[in-house]
Amino acid sequence: MIEDQAVALRNSVDTAKFVVFASGKGGVGKSLVTLNTAVSLAKRGKKVLVIDMDVGFANLDVLGGINVKHTLKDFFNEGLSVKDIVEETAYGFSLLSSGNDVEDIYAFEMGEMERFFSEFQMLGSEMDYVLIDMGAGYSEKMDNAYMASDDFVLVLTPEPTAIMDAYTFLKILSLKGLKSKLYLMVNMANSLNEGRMLGKRFQEITSKFTTLKFEKSYSMLNDIRVKKSVREQKPFVLSYKHIQPTFGVMGLVSAIMENQHEMVNRKGSFVEKIKKFFRWGR
Ligand SMILES: Nc1ncnc2c1ncn2[C@@H]1O[C@H](COP(=O)(O)OP(=O)(O)OP(=O)(O)O)[C@@H](O)[C@H]1O
Ligand SMILES: [Mg+2]
Repeated sequence: MIEDQAVALRNSVDTAKFVVFASGKGGVGKSLVTLNTAVSLAKRGKKVLVIDMDVGFANLDVLGGINVKHTLKDFFNEGLSVKDIVEETAYGFSLLSSGNDVEDIYAFEMGEMERFFSEFQMLGSEMDYVLIDMGAGYSEKMDNAYMASDDFVLVLTPEPTAIMDAYTFLKILSLKGLKSKLYLMVNMANSLNEGRMLGKRFQEITSKFTTLKFEKSYSMLNDIRVKKSVREQKPFVLSYKHIQPTFGVMGLVSAIMENQHEMVNRKGSFVEKIKKFFRWGR
């Protein structure tokens, strides 16, 4: 009886909001935007878990100078605990690295997964936000992850190839029936006007030719201090508080925090959302 009440109570409480960061083309600033968003939310007192699904070179941990010792795969392969694989960063957010070859994550034994869920439940119930840094480009095996997102941030740059790849990606998501709230981040713009114009045009084209609609578009200028922050391995929202890219991130952060009460996947516990995200136990 008490157990039933506890479950009912848990289900009535809002669960963490899942925010996916994706792009059509690689190298457009996804990981930087994810990292700086996580730092900003943590600074506002929010509990944030970042899941790094990106298997490129400049992973989010490198950008932030974070020392990741273990990955999700080690949990299963080496019998580690959730505590061992979730890194508590100096910036106040937690980081879970998926490890290479995301494919393997889908294939673990049910018993081991149950261990993961029961250990993860504790950590997850505390979280306000789960931010997911995706690999570049559309990947069919990530369909569930895209669909499990409450908010979906698409990052692009003014490069024609980045715009085309972003549009192709969106077109596919539209056909798959994405329900998430969509945000656009125009990164590495050469002027605020260029950022705004591209954002506006991209939003118009999306509304006209797909079933999707962006809530809002934000821009970040191409700024040498952003590159410096990468070399220094320090999030720019901390080192360079008054540069335009910091304001761009702030805009996005406000939007993510504002629509908390109209979350797309509001129902369901943290573990249910994680199961959906990783296609576990379908
Ligand atoms: N606003 C900016 N101003 C200047 N340089 C930037 C800006 N945004 C990103 N960069 C540069 O682009 C590089 C790539 O950024 P990042 O690693 O975040 O891209 P990504 O989309 O995650 O790449 P990948 O697809 O490889 O995962 C950064 O290391 C930085 O040098
Ligand atoms: Mg990246």
